[in-house]
Amino acid sequence: MELSKKLEKALNDQLNEELYSAYLYLAMSAYFEAEGLPGMAQWMRAQAKEEVGHAMKFFDYINERNGRVILQAVKNPPAEWKGVKDVFEQALKHEQHISQRIYDLMDLAHKEKDHATHEFLEWFVEEQVEEEKSVQDVLDKIKLVQDSPTGFYLLDQELGERKE
Ligand code: FEO
Repeated sequence: MELSKKLEKALNDQLNEELYSAYLYLAMSAYFEAEGLPGMAQWMRAQAKEEVGHAMKFFDYINERNGRVILQAVKNPPAEWKGVKDVFEQALKHEQHISQRIYDLMDLAHKEKDHATHEFLEWFVEEQVEEEKSVQDVLDKIKLVQDSPTGFYLLDQELGERKE
């Protein structure tokens, strides 16, 4: 079955969103570097890498289905935030936005009766649960730290242990 033009466009748009996610987290990583928080910078760098992996899943899937990958410009991410809490709050908001987009894509695949795409997207539905949870976990820890410099120092060290 051929990929419908509508679905092909929507999958290409999501490829772009995943690349933007990588850009956003890389911008957050740069912000943490500048703020002297190398552990958090490392955490965001690993997150950015994961997003490139997500983008490549869309890249490969469109090709597998004999569709055409059309790369679009990636918009500028922000460069400044109001502090550690703000960064992770924005990251959570972004992941919630991505989850909504995956749900919308699922609805479209269903409408177009494209079961293969529906199945392909199921991986992302589960992944989004993980994505939201990992950011929420950090936010919970930030809440515990409550502006304590020692707490932030230890949290930075802990987050720096993330490799992928
Ligand atoms: Fe690709 Fe963080 O969702």
